[in-house]
Amino acid sequence: MAGNWKMFKNPAETSAFFEKFLPQVASATHCEIVLCPPAINIPAAVAATAGSRVGVGAQNLYWKNEGAFTGEISGPMIKAAGAEWVIIGHSERRQFFGETDATVLERTKAALAAGLKPIVCVGEMLAEREAGETEAVLTQQFDGGLAGLTPEQFAQIVIAYEPVWAIGTGKTATPEMAADAHRIIRARVEAKFGGNTAASVRILYGGSVKPDNVKGLMAQPEIDGALVGGASLEPSSFASIVNF
Ligand code: 13P
Repeated sequence: MAGNWKMFKNPAETSAFFEKFLPQVASATHCEIVLCPPAINIPAAVAATAGSRVGVGAQNLYWKNEGAFTGEISGPMIKAAGAEWVIIGHSERRQFFGETDATVLERTKAALAAGLKPIVCVGEMLAEREAGETEAVLTQQFDGGLAGLTPEQFAQIVIAYEPVWAIGTGKTATPEMAADAHRIIRARVEAKFGGNTAASVRILYGGSVKPDNVKGLMAQPEIDGALVGGASLEPSSFASIVNF
């Protein structure tokens, strides 16, 4: 169960979140719990979660370790700050910041080389779904962004299916729609990396996951977890999603 805070909260608000959140998930051992705050809040999140089961992630990274790349942060920097995870290829990065399948692959390799666990996002836009192109889009994103990994690399990643039309809109994919998309992705994984890998890779669903719809989504065997935006910003809201 992962939360993506996007561009919300400052360091003080980050510490305050965990003070309320951690007691509410103290007995949750059925899943891994990860929060991905803005990078500037990673030290506060790492300090607040020390000794707990809650992990911390970044929302992006650049694929070079260091250099003249103003404004970027690297995998080794994220790792040294104490985070373990990183979101890659979120649709907001694709839409607003020029992310492509090729750069998703570069970033994923760099994250793995730095010892981070990537959560790689895929998902179709509304027009693509309406045009019946969902499978083609997911296939292209998988082939361009993930199929270039070695089996050893692929075994360490988590995939997040986030239909763009469901993000921040209150329109959740129905559990059946989400499960269908997960099956498409899993079939690509099987074709490229084999049945064992397809069975074990974790595929999260993201897009307007809330306390009142998480149960239905998680009832689908295809759905292994959630990547939560807005509803991860409030401690009791995200805690009730974790404790679905
Ligand atoms: P919302 O849960 O706010 O729709 O955001 C989903 C998302 O983009 C998580 O990465």
